[in-house]
Amino acid sequence: MERSWRSSVLLLMLHVLFMSKEMNGVDAGPPKHRLLMERRNLLANGLGLTPQMGWSSWNHFACNIDEKVIKETADALISTGLSKLGYTYVNIDDCWAEKARDEKGNLVPKKSTFPSGMKAVADYVHSKGLKLGIYSSAGYFTCSKAMPGSLGYEEHDAKTFASWGIDYLKYDNCYNDGTKPTVRYPVMTRALMKAGRPIFFSLCEWGDLHPALWGAKVGNSWRTTNDITDTWDSMITRADYNEFFAELARPGGWNDPDMLEVGNGGMTKNEYIVHFSLWAISKAPLILGCNLRNITKETMEIVTNKEAIAINKDPLGVQAKKVRMEGDIEIWAGPLSGYRVAAVLLNRGPIKYSITAEWDDLGIPPTSIVKARDVWEHKTLKTQFARNITATVDSHSCKLYILKPVS
Ligand SMILES: *[C@@H]1O[C@H](CO)[C@@H](O)[C@H](O)[C@H]1NC(C)=O
Ligand SMILES: *[C@@H]1O[C@H](CO)[C@@H](O)[C@H](O)[C@H]1NC(C)=O
Repeated sequence: MERSWRSSVLLLMLHVLFMSKEMNGVDAGPPKHRLLMERRNLLANGLGLTPQMGWSSWNHFACNIDEKVIKETADALISTGLSKLGYTYVNIDDCWAEKARDEKGNLVPKKSTFPSGMKAVADYVHSKGLKLGIYSSAGYFTCSKAMPGSLGYEEHDAKTFASWGIDYLKYDNCYNDGTKPTVRYPVMTRALMKAGRPIFFSLCEWGDLHPALWGAKVGNSWRTTNDITDTWDSMITRADYNEFFAELARPGGWNDPDMLEVGNGGMTKNEYIVHFSLWAISKAPLILGCNLRNITKETMEIVTNKEAIAINKDPLGVQAKKVRMEGDIEIWAGPLSGYRVAAVLLNRGPIKYSITAEWDDLGIPPTSIVKARDVWEHKTLKTQFARNITATVDSHSCKLYILKPVS
C-alpha cells in the first residue's frame, strides 16, 4: 500500500517534537536509565491482539447505572447472540462508587446502586462467560466528580480491581494534577502489572499528548479524541482525528476514536453504517453504547455484520487510511490478510455521488482483476473489476468492499 505522504510527514514531525520534549517524562528514574526505561514495554499483558469488543454503560446511561442494568446487559449479550460474535466485555463506566474512600483507602461500590458489591457483579458476568470492565481516572476525581479517581492510589486500586475479578480498566483524565499523561498513566500500567490478574488497559487521555506516540508501551488502546456524541459531525470528526495515527496501531495497541453510538437514535441508519464501517476498517475498539435490553432489529443488523467484524479482527491488524479525498468524497482503504483489501467509498456530502476507487490508490497491482464483496449487501458482485471499482453512494452513506485479486 502506498503510504500517504501527508500523514507520514505529520507523524515524523510529531515524533521529532515528542522525542525531544516529552519522552523525558515517561519514567521518573535516574536520567542515565531513562532511555532504557522508555523503550521497555511496561504492559506485557498479552491482551488486545485484536481490538476489544463489548459494551459500555456511558453512551446511553451516563451516570444512571446500577447492578441491575449491568447484569441485564450481560444477559442481553448472551440472549441476542452478540457475545458469540466477540462482544464480551461488559464495561461499567463512571459513577459506580461512593464519593469517599473507606477508612482503609479502598474505593467503595455505591451502596444505593451496587448493593451486592463488585465481586458479586464480576462473578455474575463471569458465570455467563463474559468479562467485567471498570472505570477510574488518572486524577483526584473521575469526570462526574461523583467518585474519587486513582491518582496517588494506583497500586491500591489495581489490587482492589484484581481482587474483585475485574478484566478491563478504562482510565480517564479528569481532575488531574497538571502533570503530563506520560507521567501519570505509566504509574497505573505498572500497578496493573503487579496486581496479579491480566487487566486490559484502555487509556482515555483524549488525545491530549498524542498518546499514539507512546501508548503502545503503556496501554492496550488509547483514545485519540475527545468524547463522541450521537451526531454525524461528532462521529465523522472522531474518525478523522483517529486516522492521523493509523500507522501506529498494531496488535496489542489500538487507536481508539471512542465508543459506538449505533442504536442511540441520533443518526440515520446509513450514518450508523458509515460509523460501523469506519470503526471496523480503522481497527477501532467495537464497544457498543446503546441499551442492549431493547436493541432494535435495525441496530442488530448493523452491529452483527460478521464480515465487518472480521475486517476489524483481521490478523494483519493494519488500520485503514484515507487514500484519496476530493471534496465530499473519500476513499479509505487498508490491507487484509490473504492479499485482500478493505475499502470504504464514503460520501460525506448532501447529495448522491458516483465514486470511483482506483487500484493505484488502494494498493492493488494495476493489472489485477478483482472480485468484490459488498459487505453490507452480503453479496459478491457478479462483475469482476479491472483498474477501478465505481459505485453510486447516497448522501452520508458508504460502500464497504472486500477486494480480492483473482488474477
Ligand atoms: C429503550 O429504552 C430506553 C429507556 O430505558 C429508551 O430511552 C429508548 O428509547 C428505548 N430504545 C428503543 C430502541 O426502544
Ligand atoms: C475504470 O477502469 C475502466 C477499465 O476497467 C476504464 O475504462 C475507466 O476509464 C476507468 N475509470 C476511471 C474513472 O478511472
